[in-house]
Order: sequence, then structure tokens, then C-alpha cells
Amino acid sequence: MIILKTLEEIALMAQASRVVAETLLVLQQAVRPGITTDELDRIAETEIVSRGARPAFKGYRSYPKTLCASVNDQVVHGIPSKRVLKEGDIIGLDLGAIVGGFYGDSAVTVSVGQAPERNARLVRVTKEAMYLGIAQAVVGRRLSDISHAVQRHVEAAGYSVVTEFVGHGIGRQLHEEPQVPNYGKPGQGPRLQAGMVLAIEPMVNMGGAAVKILEDRWTAVTVDGSLSAHFEHTIAIEPSGPPRILSQP
Ligand code: MF3
Ligand code: CO
Repeated sequence: MIILKTLEEIALMAQASRVVAETLLVLQQAVRPGITTDELDRIAETEIVSRGARPAFKGYRSYPKTLCASVNDQVVHGIPSKRVLKEGDIIGLDLGAIVGGFYGDSAVTVSVGQAPERNARLVRVTKEAMYLGIAQAVVGRRLSDISHAVQRHVEAAGYSVVTEFVGHGIGRQLHEEPQVPNYGKPGQGPRLQAGMVLAIEPMVNMGGAAVKILEDRWTAVTVDGSLSAHFEHTIAIEPSGPPRILSQP
């Protein structure tokens, strides 16, 4: 069952998502060669708490940290550590916060220092795919129109969409129905309605689609070692017109 949100509930989700967005901006400023992902995690927690919110991921299914920091071939759910970032790396920063019992969830991928154009293109195409998916999140479309728009753009650029992880409904829980795959035929699944709040989050590999989970039971990496990028916004479907992007600062 897809839980539709009231305007009051969406207002709380907007607050939570704003905290995430502002924190992601601070993190992007902090990303540079020499910083560790643990240091980024510490910053994330400080920023979230100072804004009167709670980290959403820490303790979620025993996840140990506030931030997911996924470097290079890490697709998602990289656990912050003593790993030192170096020039030319790309890093996915994925963050959730809770305000008044409601969640916000967003992710960006950025380059560390100057990235080669080959890497920057993967990041750019992934972000574009997310926005093309978001553009489909309007009343009158069906769920898989989002999925299809993402897949089409990614594959036209010569990359692969990850199929093992999907976007999701979000509300009083981090993950609610429906699942939002990043692939599929258009015109399938539930009709989109005002009050649906979705986390749309393409994960895109430069090489093959296959991923595996490391021994730490969290970190997803590409099987072929190719680079991977991830963007995510929490959006609310409006009665008419384009969706409201809640996780935009
Ligand atoms: N943004 C991710 C998601 O939507 C991260 C959640 S995994 C967690 O699934 F354990 F870190 F919370
Ligand atoms: Co998510």
C-alpha cells in the first residue's frame, strides 16, 4: 500500500530533506584530497544535529554511521572509515535525516579535486538521469515512466543501471512502498497521485551492471571494478505540474 501524505506531513518531510540538502552542501565543500570519510561522517552528524534533526541511517538495520560514503567502484552504502580521499576519486555522499517522525533522503556524487572528463561524464549523466526521472513524477503518469526515463538516458550514454537497488517511497519510514526501479518498460505500475513522496535514486556503473556486497555486509561494489555514481532526491508529487523537490537547499 502506498501511503499518501498530507500537506502537514509533507511540510515535515521538507524540513528533514532541507537538513539533508544543507548538510550535503557542507560536505561537498569539505571534500578534498587528504580528508577521510570518517571526518566527513563526523561533519554530517554535527550538521544534522545542529539543525535540530536526527541522523536517519545510524542504527538503521545496524548501519553504524550517519553517512554513506561510496568511493569510485563502491556503488552505495560505503561505510565511512580511515580511508583518505585522493585527487581524481569520485565519492557518493548519501544522507538521511528525521524531523518530527518523518524522513528525508538525498545523495550526490562529486569529484575529489579535478576529475578526468571520463569520470565527470559519468557523474553528469547520472544526475541528468535522476532529473529526467523526476520530470516523470507527475499526476497522469505511471510509476515505471520514472524508471524508464532513467534507464533510457543511462543506456544511451553507454552506461549500465544497477538493478539490485531501487528508489522507494518515503515517509514515517525510510523505505515505504512503492519500490522505484531504475529500469523498466514505460506505462506500468501504479498511477502516480498527489501526496506520494518518493526517493528517486539512480545508481549508474561505467561498466557492467553487476554488483556484489563486501565482507562488511554493507558496501556494494561493481563486480568489474568500474566506477559508479549515485544521485538521489526526495520529491513530492503535486496535484498538477512538476513535483516538489524537497531535498533542494
Ligand atoms: N539512501 C539509502 C537508501 O535509500 C541509504 C539507506 S541505507 C542505510 O536506501 F543503512 F545507510 F541507512
Ligand atoms: Co534512498
